[in-house]
Order: sequence, then structure tokens, then C-alpha cells
Amino acid sequence: MSNLPSLRIGQHLARHPIVQGAMAVRVSGANLAGAVANAGGVGLISSFGIGLNSPYFDTKPRKFFAANKLALIDELAKAREISPDGIIGVNVLVATRDYKALAQTAAAHGANLIVTGAGMPLTLPESVRDYPTVALVPIVSNLQAAQTICETWHQNYQRFPDAFILEHCKLIGGHFASQCEELDDSTLETTIAQLQAYLDSIELNIPIIVTGGIWDRSDIDRMFAIGAAGVQIGTRFITTAECDADRQYKEFHLQAHVHNLVTVPSPVGKPARAIGNQFTEDVLKNSPTLEKRCIANCLDSCLCRDKKITYCLLQALSKAAQGDIDRGLMFSGGAVKPVAKILPVAEVMASLT
Ligand SMILES: Cc1cc2nc3c(=O)[nH]c(=O)nc-3n(C[C@H](O)[C@H](O)[C@H](O)COP(=O)(O)O)c2cc1C
Repeated sequence: MSNLPSLRIGQHLARHPIVQGAMAVRVSGANLAGAVANAGGVGLISSFGIGLNSPYFDTKPRKFFAANKLALIDELAKAREISPDGIIGVNVLVATRDYKALAQTAAAHGANLIVTGAGMPLTLPESVRDYPTVALVPIVSNLQAAQTICETWHQNYQRFPDAFILEHCKLIGGHFASQCEELDDSTLETTIAQLQAYLDSIELNIPIIVTGGIWDRSDIDRMFAIGAAGVQIGTRFITTAECDADRQYKEFHLQAHVHNLVTVPSPVGKPARAIGNQFTEDVLKNSPTLEKRCIANCLDSCLCRDKKITYCLLQALSKAAQGDIDRGLMFSGGAVKPVAKILPVAEVMASLT
């Protein structure tokens, strides 16, 4: 087995081309991100709902957003203490109402990179313009999205992304594109080739990082063989000692199997991949016992808040991560496998590399 190459994202060079996927709510916090960074990968703190259950929490929207900021500052400081020299980033969800403030906060408090999910970060460079060393990495699901971001950023801010993360929608954990069912299995390879051709045409030398369904070294090798320069891995890091979720959440994941996966609707209006449990059953049959109370007015557009359908995403993800494995929502990637025991991140990284 040959060595994997290193991964350059903007000014930051990771020893291993592995980005740990951000996982909300507080599944990937400082402990997981710091451990992955120490092991030579890129660690990501998930900022979605980070203020919930923090000492700063208050349900009033403006106070909730203030709590998110303060909790993110704490989490970044903690991650930096764990990994003073590692590469640590923050994931912000464009679909949240405070995404610009969180991106700015992350940049101002030492994040090396900002990864965006759930939307088009068309004005992101403006929020972080005072921090030129902070790399910007949008997650995209197709060529058109990448093109629009490059053109808009270049025209309005004279800058380009420092990498793209490309979703493999058939296997990614959590939300995926609604049109995914219509795509065939060769779509990922075609999209990587199209994206690479586009980047070459504008002479932009940045890595394409693939995410979704990457579990072991053979998956990584397959992604490199079709043109990826890095991978982003989420679910595999849940069953680690350093994962920030409750022990019961991790233990539940130890037994997870692809047969247990379900697709549920989400209040953001997209389908989401999760492990089946009481909560997903209630969602799928729209049980009258399903709680539909918006707890923090966090999303720009939310089916729960605006139409009283689905459920509160923040509450459902947070409950799970705190150990309520029956009534919480457990996102999971489509390549999940049973794992014998919870392992230190360093061991998982060693087996991947
Ligand atoms: C529990 C969980 C929570 C997630 N939360 C986020 C998030 O807050 N932001 C985001 O961009 N992606 C999120 N994702 C997607 C992951 O970052 C990653 O892209 C995905 O899990 C990759 O697929 P894999 O789990 O098969 O490796 C989440 C995934 C999981 C499993």
C-alpha cells in the first residue's frame, strides 16, 4: 500500500488528505476536531446549534445567536489547546440565520479554514475579509454550484475557494440533494472529471475533496483513483473515544448496519440519511406524538417553524447527541458498518492512512 499524499488547502498543509466531517449538534466539537488535527488530518468543529446546552444558552433568538458565538469561541480555544499546531476548521451552515456571524467569529478566533454546507455561500468572502489566511471551502453537490461560487466570488471579491468538497449524495450522512435518486452510480466520477476540467479551464489549482460513504482505506484509494485529492469522513469518527457525543450515542453507532438506515424528511426541505429508531418511525408515520415546536428560530427557512410540519432539527440532533437514542435523530452515512469497540482517533487515522 503506497503512502497517501498530503493535502494543501490554501496556506495549510495537512499530513494526511483526510478531513473529519463536521457533525452536529456537538458530535464533532473540540475533542474530536483536536484529535484528528493532532493525528495529521483536518479537524472540523460543527457550529450548528453549538450554543445549545452551553452556559450561554437562552431560547430567545438573539440570545441564542449570541450563545452560539460565545460557545464557538470556547470550542475553538479548547481545540487549539488540544492541537496547538494542527489544522482546525469550523463548519457553518449557510441555511442558518447566523451563518455569517459564525463564519466571522470562527475566522477571528483562530480557525484555519471555514467549510460551508447546506447552501450557496455567495457572500462568505465578505464576512471574513479581514482574515486572508483563513481558507474557504464550500461543500457542493454539482458542477453548476461550484461554477456559480467561483464566478460570484471572483467578480465581487477577487478571490476563489481554496478547495471544494464534493458530496457523494448516494452515501453521505445527513442531508443530501433531493434529485439524488435520479442519479446513477457513475455520477460522482463524471462530476469530479467535470469539476476538474472546469478548474483547469480557469487555471485554479485547488483540491477536490470527496465526501460520503468513505469508511476504510480501500474507499479512500477508490476516490483517489477517480480524481479526488482528499476525502471528508464523518460517520467513521463517531465511534471514537474523542467524539464529543454522549457515550450512548457512540455505543448505538457501534451496532449500526446499512440495513438500519432510513431516509427521513428534514425541516430544511431535503431528505436526510439516518439510523432508524423510534424517532425516525414517528417522523415517517407523522405520529401525533411527534413534537413540532421550534426551539430557537435558527434556520432561514424551516418547515417546522413555518408550516408546523416535520420536527425541530436542532432539538432532534441535539437530543440524540446527548444520549437520547430513542427520541433523537441520528444522522449516518450510507457505508456504516458495525464496529467492535470505540477506538482512539489516532488508531482510526492509522488504519485509514
Ligand atoms: C451525525 C452527523 C451530523 C452531520 N452534521 C453536519 C453539519 O452540521 N454540517 C455539514 O456540513 N455536514 C454535516 N454532516 C455531514 C458530514 O460532515 C459528512 O459530510 C458526511 O457524514 C460524510 O459521509 P460519511 O458519514 O459517510 O463519512 C453530518 C453527518 C452526520 C453523520
